[in-house]
Amino acid sequence: MTLAGNRPTMERLRNHNRTSQTIMTVINSIADRAEEIRAWRHELHQHPEICFEEVWTSDFIAAKLESFGIEIHRGMGKTGVVGVLRGSGDSARAIGLRADIDALPMDELNEFEHASKIPGRMHACGHDGHTAMLLGAAQYLAETRNFDGTVYFIFQPAEEGGGGGLAMIEDGLFSEFDMQTVWGMHNWPSMDKGHAGIHDGVCMANADEFAMTISGRGGHAAQPHSCIDPIPCGATIVQALQTIVARRVSPVDSAVVSVTIFQAGSAHNVIPDDVKLAGTARSFRTETRQLLETAIREVSESVAAAHQCQIDFEWSPGYPATVNHAVEAERAAGVMATVLGEDNIDRDVEPSLGAEDFAYMLEEKPGAYIWLGSGPAPAEGMLHCARFDFNDEVLPIGASYWAKLVESELPR
Ligand code: NI
Repeated sequence: MTLAGNRPTMERLRNHNRTSQTIMTVINSIADRAEEIRAWRHELHQHPEICFEEVWTSDFIAAKLESFGIEIHRGMGKTGVVGVLRGSGDSARAIGLRADIDALPMDELNEFEHASKIPGRMHACGHDGHTAMLLGAAQYLAETRNFDGTVYFIFQPAEEGGGGGLAMIEDGLFSEFDMQTVWGMHNWPSMDKGHAGIHDGVCMANADEFAMTISGRGGHAAQPHSCIDPIPCGATIVQALQTIVARRVSPVDSAVVSVTIFQAGSAHNVIPDDVKLAGTARSFRTETRQLLETAIREVSESVAAAHQCQIDFEWSPGYPATVNHAVEAERAAGVMATVLGEDNIDRDVEPSLGAEDFAYMLEEKPGAYIWLGSGPAPAEGMLHCARFDFNDEVLPIGASYWAKLVESELPR
């Protein structure tokens, strides 16, 4: 693929991977603007906002898009922003590029200059970098328009548990903006910079939640026979839930059941009235997702009955599995190979049991979600850690991927 209006590609960045010396080919004019894109990223990092509260962030995005001469639509999914850019011809083809824009409700432990200025808020998943990379591509594409069709730049709020992707769809993302495919990207600190991973099918998990209140009858700790103690019941449920993945899910399938909340009691000498348990259930397949729901409910209710306890069980479906479309995944891999080199595209990378609300968009439209290697990162600097920081060195790589993807999907 060639890039008209672009000088011959230069060797801009060198991969420091120990096993190979790899040349990365980023778009020259994007590489030239790496400092500007980095400055945007740092500004975003200083102003983290969570789940549908991304007011400053969406103002920032809208102002940048407007300054590039890109048409903007605001308020989709509350704080979402969509930029619309038409290419040089009159083709009806259109694609959507999606970046998530929200932060996490946690304190940042980094002390560098661009650290969060907002207590209890932190860009600990790199969505600041995702936003900056998509803005960098938008700027380049608005200047060059070396494509024929329409690009929708989708800046999506509330990825971290709020379902902002679904909110945008429900607000008309795909009915107002007629795009044929959608594309997503996430930085991946456990994969070295200069590499990317992509799956031809499932890449992230169904992520559901369960919660239960186990009610017994409290009383004096020295007289358990006159009480119905919910604590042994809760402990037995935790143990019994661990048999579901081990004994009921096929050994060649993957699933996780984690109890993450166990709350009970207030004194050494009081048997409490109730116990609260909650946790998460992860799977890749729809059948397994249904099995987990049924089994977790059955096991919990049966154990409670055996302990003469009452149980109030609640199942909350979360994000569905993120499933790439094989044809689009192959095209995404091909484009990323023009940036990073074919040898650095890992098509066999293990899926993650994390979750991602780009899943909703991939349920509606063909497309693919790619992991952009951004490591090596220390253990305390992984995604969702208080010392995480997006690796600025990958900004030009991600922006170049987006730009090349548009020129490849919407050729003149
Ligand atoms: Ni994330």
